[in-house]
Amino acid sequence: MSIATVLTKPEIPELDPDRFIDIDLFGQDIKANAPTYFAEWATRPPFYAMVQGHVHVVICRHHQVQWALRTHEIISAVPHPGWGTDLFDYFNGLPLVVDFDPPEHSRMRRLMQPGFAPNRVAKLKPLIDSMVDELANVMAQKRHFNMVTDFAGPLMYQILLGGVFEFKSDDWPLFINLSNALELVATVPPGAPKPPEYLAAFNAVYEFCGKLIEERRIDPRDDLVGSVIAAHDDEGKISIEELFSTLVQLFTAGLGTVPATSSNAVLRLLRHPDQLELLRKDPSLLNIALEECMRVDCLGNFRHRFVVKEHVIDGTPIYPGMVAHLSLGAANYDPDKYPDPTRFDITRDPRDILTFGFGPHLCPGNSLARMMTRAIVSRLIFGFPNLRLTDPDEVIVYGGMPTERFPTNVNLSVD
Ligand code: HEM
Repeated sequence: MSIATVLTKPEIPELDPDRFIDIDLFGQDIKANAPTYFAEWATRPPFYAMVQGHVHVVICRHHQVQWALRTHEIISAVPHPGWGTDLFDYFNGLPLVVDFDPPEHSRMRRLMQPGFAPNRVAKLKPLIDSMVDELANVMAQKRHFNMVTDFAGPLMYQILLGGVFEFKSDDWPLFINLSNALELVATVPPGAPKPPEYLAAFNAVYEFCGKLIEERRIDPRDDLVGSVIAAHDDEGKISIEELFSTLVQLFTAGLGTVPATSSNAVLRLLRHPDQLELLRKDPSLLNIALEECMRVDCLGNFRHRFVVKEHVIDGTPIYPGMVAHLSLGAANYDPDKYPDPTRFDITRDPRDILTFGFGPHLCPGNSLARMMTRAIVSRLIFGFPNLRLTDPDEVIVYGGMPTERFPTNVNLSVD
């Protein structure tokens, strides 16, 4: 499979200058002050912004984002190289499940579905709880730690690579190197070759997948990799590209997202002591409290798509040739859906948050992600009565891919 075909970018007609906002969509300012931007954007019609000389349209209201996520004949997920999203080509042109529209997308989804079977996810719970507990005990000894890099991040390697994929720890560095190299992609100018460190990491995982297919054909096993290979083989022999893209998508999708979500939740709760106290007094609020945390601190500021058919949304014309950014983060602040959206209220019980997307691409890992987030956050807030921010005034620096909002320094003390 390859998406090497470069589609000619259609000419975009002249646009109303009043519908442009002069803003760096992927800059630190938006990442750091997202709630303020989102609360404002969620009340306005779609707007345009320039990114590397291309027109991007940003769609923010809850119902409009939902509409865009399910209307692939107008707003398509299929990558259009050269249209202005080269900085999101994380896998060297290899298409992932997110890069397809139905009906092809439905086939890709079906092939990875065994990995998310409810019984497989449920079986992981005791393992996840014990891994969380073990590392939390190490943190208790350490007393001061960065929740992202010392606790939730390393935990995720153990859970995903050891628990979910059941890979030997000797093989983990291949995936860890690739995940570390992904952020390099966004540093490359459009059209320039990918950095050698990235290519080396990519090729190493690619070779590993080839060997894995051979091994599993000789020695089939009833684990996640086995079921992915078996599901593909029912429809024809799996290719290295297909296994690579399935595994890598599963792995990278969970690796940074869960540590970031749980760290954002702990940060948010520690900064709202009244809400934290409420939760500690009534732990049955945990599930809805976490939904509220994920509403206000959505990881994906935007999901990108491509406009393939002319349309008008709330007075804003969109044309083929534009990149569309569906702001999941802003949609979670739509006042028509969540009254007084900037108020953090763990009793709100917010429904239909878009943190995990919507429509055909709705995150298939959302139950697993919610389970892991619950295990991590509850162990910290209920297990450490003295949990606090090491320096309450520390400025949080946000990393992650350009469209994401991953905190990098949530420093905690538990002594
Ligand atoms: C809190 C953690 C997570 C968040 C916030 C999250 C969020 C999302 C979002 C917003 C999408 C939709 C992308 C789009 O429409 O373009 C998505 C898709 C996806 N996620 Fe997650 N995710 C999380 C954890 C996970 C985990 C743990 C896994 C697997 C181990 C996973 C696997 C996937 C896959 C495979 C897709 C692509 C689905 C498709 O295109 O059909 N995610 N995720």
